[in-house]
Amino acid sequence: MTITDNRTGRSVTVPIEGSTFPSAALRELDRTLRLYDPAFLSTASCASSITLVDGENGILRYRGYPIEQLAEQSNFLEVCYLLLYGELPTKDQYAEWQHEITTHTFVHEKVKRFIDGFHYDAHPMGVLVSTVAALSTFYPEAKDIFDEQSRQQQIVRLIAKMPTLAAFAYRYSVGQPFVYPDNSLSYTANFLSMLWRIAEPRFDANPALARALDVLFILHADHEQNCSTTAMRTVGSSQADPYVATAAACAGLYGPLHGGANEQVIHMLNRIGSVDNVPAYIERVKKGETRLMGFGHRVYKSYDPRAKIIRQTADEVFEVTGVSPLLEIALKLEEIALSDDYFIERQLYPNVDFYSGLIYQAMGFPLAMFTVLFAIARTPGWLAHWLELLGDPETKIYRPRQKYIGADQRDYVSIDER
Ligand code: ACO
Repeated sequence: MTITDNRTGRSVTVPIEGSTFPSAALRELDRTLRLYDPAFLSTASCASSITLVDGENGILRYRGYPIEQLAEQSNFLEVCYLLLYGELPTKDQYAEWQHEITTHTFVHEKVKRFIDGFHYDAHPMGVLVSTVAALSTFYPEAKDIFDEQSRQQQIVRLIAKMPTLAAFAYRYSVGQPFVYPDNSLSYTANFLSMLWRIAEPRFDANPALARALDVLFILHADHEQNCSTTAMRTVGSSQADPYVATAAACAGLYGPLHGGANEQVIHMLNRIGSVDNVPAYIERVKKGETRLMGFGHRVYKSYDPRAKIIRQTADEVFEVTGVSPLLEIALKLEEIALSDDYFIERQLYPNVDFYSGLIYQAMGFPLAMFTVLFAIARTPGWLAHWLELLGDPETKIYRPRQKYIGADQRDYVSIDER
């Protein structure tokens, strides 16, 4: 592509690889030229080989494998391995990986003490952000980010301990004693045991629910350069340790436009209250008075492939738990929205969060835990991007530029004269 600066008549020819070109070439035209791209709508901030999202065609692949195949045939721990190391593990590699994760699920006893310091109604996501950051103080060797062995150890610890921290945050919020990990259970079954076990010696979750949670974790494991992953890369680019970088990513996820969306979907369905109120709600959305939560996506301009799989998972969960009364409202919203010009013109389709909240609610999770579940699932994705960032010779500290639109130089006026 040849770009001509009409002010000077100077031209520069840039190579196009895939659909990107190196914007640094623009500096050949004018050293001070910057791309103005608020919210990075047209910016590729890095080259990555982890996840492909083709938003126009509704395609999602991890390391080349279609999400549909992984959701059906794989499990979350195997997907973690795939995202992090680029290949599906062999039998031996998987056995070792599973053993490593399973034997690092306990957290230091002092973690319980600072969870005790939170107010009784602390949001578990606030507790998670803080406790993940605090892990950094327990593992000072995590700062050796260029030591491969140390990096691997922190990765194992983070994936293993996230469910423990999440479960502790939940148990604290409901005033129940913490349940320690049970290493004889699978990753998701152990998480459910830490959440729900009361006095029984062993908690065996319903296998259909444990599998549904595993599938939901697979679907949420990575999604290339979203808000939280970009936070992970941004903080990681300053060479901070992976615990504080993961805490930053969790903080990005906490917001209602990102990981908080499925919680907002349930609030919205509760507010709508009945199928009869759906058309009036859609009118309010079209007037711009509110948003249809769980709809729309920065990248997907067709049906989110994860939403399709989730609908199927929802049916399997509802078979065990009974149908959610909010499902009827959700189905009606989807039906009207998919046939309404406002949504068609803007290419707004259900995203992964539209149905995930209904599933989590049916499984017995309180609303405040929804984003926490997302954080557990997204941890391998964040860490895969962190590893990739550290190994990329093009990596420099993230430091975008700005278009300054403030005041010109002016002279200081003393406070008495203002
Ligand atoms: N409901 C109603 N209108 C919408 C919605 C929505 N959910 N999403 C976008 N629009 C409209 C906007 O009003 C805008 O219309 P306009 O052109 O007339 O002004 C147009 O569609 C484009 O919207 P943008 O806000 O520019 O889209 P953007 O890419 O910035 O936002 C986002 C994407 C944040 C996901 C948005 O669609 C949204 O707020 N959705 C609801 C929240 C949600 O479900 N988030 C979960 C995302 S998936 C995830 O994080 C796992």
